[in-house]
Amino acid sequence: MKTVVVPAAGMGTRFLPATKTVPKELLPVVDTPGIEMIAEEAAQLGATRLAVITAPKKQGVLAHFDPYPELEQTLEERGKQEQLDKVRRAANLIKAVPVEQEQPLGLGHAVGLAESVLDDDEDVVAVMLPDDLVLPMGAMEEMAKVRAQFGGSVLCAVEVPRDEVCNYGVFDIEEIGVDNVKKVIGMVEKPDVDDAPSNFVATGRYLLDRQIFSALKRIKPGKGGELQLTDAIELLIEEGHPVHILVHRGRRHDLGNPGGYIRACVDFGLKHPTYGKGLRHYITELLAEEN
Ligand code: G1P
Repeated sequence: MKTVVVPAAGMGTRFLPATKTVPKELLPVVDTPGIEMIAEEAAQLGATRLAVITAPKKQGVLAHFDPYPELEQTLEERGKQEQLDKVRRAANLIKAVPVEQEQPLGLGHAVGLAESVLDDDEDVVAVMLPDDLVLPMGAMEEMAKVRAQFGGSVLCAVEVPRDEVCNYGVFDIEEIGVDNVKKVIGMVEKPDVDDAPSNFVATGRYLLDRQIFSALKRIKPGKGGELQLTDAIELLIEEGHPVHILVHRGRRHDLGNPGGYIRACVDFGLKHPTYGKGLRHYITELLAEEN
């Protein structure tokens, strides 16, 4: 896999006012922006290129992958090697390629724009949503194995409580007798709880057959008046294209809203070699005070 597509053009409305001027993909989990964590996951997968879909006012996301000669020189002169490595890390992980989405027309529209940067021999469109941290890293490798076995497209799914399905793309599924893999017979974007076909939902990791680009050109605006990736996947299913989910049973954080973001910071903070111990102590104290 050469290219991973990262839609990062969203307005971050759930995270205002922080996202008025700072793209949500640059908010740090401890000290590392979400977009760099995605770059790390993509690089681990063997990808060499990150096609970052950005909005005109979100150029900072791409700038995070640029060299910063003045800062690098200063750090070098002062012998601050550790900090220098941190500044250079993103660019060393992967080559970020910008794809501009001029108007917020939806996730489906954003993914469709990536067609222009994929090479002709790339038969799979790997999409990672930077809002979703799927842990431990490596879900895409497992999904690639499922694709090698069943063909078609493979998505990552998690099971959520019934009353939360309205926030996600929801799968209609059929068991195929394989633990953690299910056949998808339909998909619907953010349905009402009563209409949801299951409580298995899409969680930001997609390995899509290149046919998705054709489907994306044929869908009409859906939920929220936006072109939905979910609707293009549903169209492929209707046309007989095989789609499966890999059910992820590990941890997952939604960095796109403060509640999920705080959890991610606590999770990574507790594991951090410098801050972990102190944070654990502080949280324990704080909770004891509350009781
Ligand atoms: C998007 C997708 C949705 C998916 C979700 C996962 O929604 O449209 O199908 O379940 O990401 O995070 P968003 O969260 O961008 O509204």
